[in-house]
Amino acid sequence: MTRPRLYSGMQPSADSLQVGNYIGALLQWRDLQDAYEAFFSVVDLHALTQPNDPAELREKTRRTAAQYIAAGIEPSRSTLYVQSHVRAHAELAWILSTITGFGEANRMTQFKDKSARYGTDQTNVGLFTYPVLMAADILLYQTDIVPVGDDQKQHVELTRDLAERFNARYGAAFTVPIPVIQKETARIYDLQNPTAKMSKSAESDAGVLWLLDDPAVSAKKVMRAVTDSEGTVRYDRESKPGVSNLLTIYAALTGRQIPSIEDEYAGRGYGDFKKGLAEVVVNEFGPVRERALDLLADPGELDRVLASNADRAAEVADATLSDVYDRVGL
Ligand code: ADP
Ligand code: NA
Repeated sequence: MTRPRLYSGMQPSADSLQVGNYIGALLQWRDLQDAYEAFFSVVDLHALTQPNDPAELREKTRRTAAQYIAAGIEPSRSTLYVQSHVRAHAELAWILSTITGFGEANRMTQFKDKSARYGTDQTNVGLFTYPVLMAADILLYQTDIVPVGDDQKQHVELTRDLAERFNARYGAAFTVPIPVIQKETARIYDLQNPTAKMSKSAESDAGVLWLLDDPAVSAKKVMRAVTDSEGTVRYDRESKPGVSNLLTIYAALTGRQIPSIEDEYAGRGYGDFKKGLAEVVVNEFGPVRERALDLLADPGELDRVLASNADRAAEVADATLSDVYDRVGL
């Protein structure tokens, strides 16, 4: 039986992933591996749109892949590979760029935000065409669904438009993918600034829980998380963003419902609640961290796993690309 295809990826933009990446992406990916034929990529070509030290980029790429595996993405079941190992990504991106309108690309809000923030002289063309490379990533695998955060929804819409345009012009080369937008309950906020999303590129990491941190450090960060003066453990995103965020993390990591956690901590203070969550965090990430560090202790073996998965990815990607070449007259 053939399963529908799923594609997702993350940039190797830090030494460690953060708990938002884990809850918002990795846990969901892990659970989708049975129902879908999944392709999970570490998108290092995308990471080149930011300044990078070459040795550090290579190391971040390896570390990101190790954390995918440590979180339960199985390279024997899903295809887990590094984007630049599959040449077809850059090649298809070029072809798609020739059917993308300049104005269309110019309407991408993520680019508008970034170029407004850094100025056009500090913004590279790669950042402008980033969504076209992302479209190539997705379309190469005849992807049916793309799980993404809502900040990526516009890029998946562009991917759909490009697929439909190409198919209309040259014949049906691509499956038109559907974005599956992350649930609000999978969105994690910064522990020190609980209205901003937790991010590996946050300016200060005081409110960021890193997967690869010593669990004692994460426990301390939980104990210092911003709350409020009310003193009751109750979910209310509007008026109690700090406590609500801690409840979301607690629920996601234990598989429990938020009301059951509220009940458990009824009449008890934030200190008790934070202690409970710190324990949950340590229990969850202690083993994940150890698995990742074990994998990283044998980089040769990790590289072999990634190379054989890249071969598997390339088989699918090259078939799509050669069909596309034929269709456009190359
Ligand atoms: P970051 O901001 O940490 O660099 P990215 O924007 O690269 O994260 O996103 C990588 C993946 O992790 C995406 O699937 C995104 O939806 C998910 N993700 C990132 N931050 C969070 C968060 N705070 N809560 C939930 N999911 C997140
Ligand atoms: Na980022």
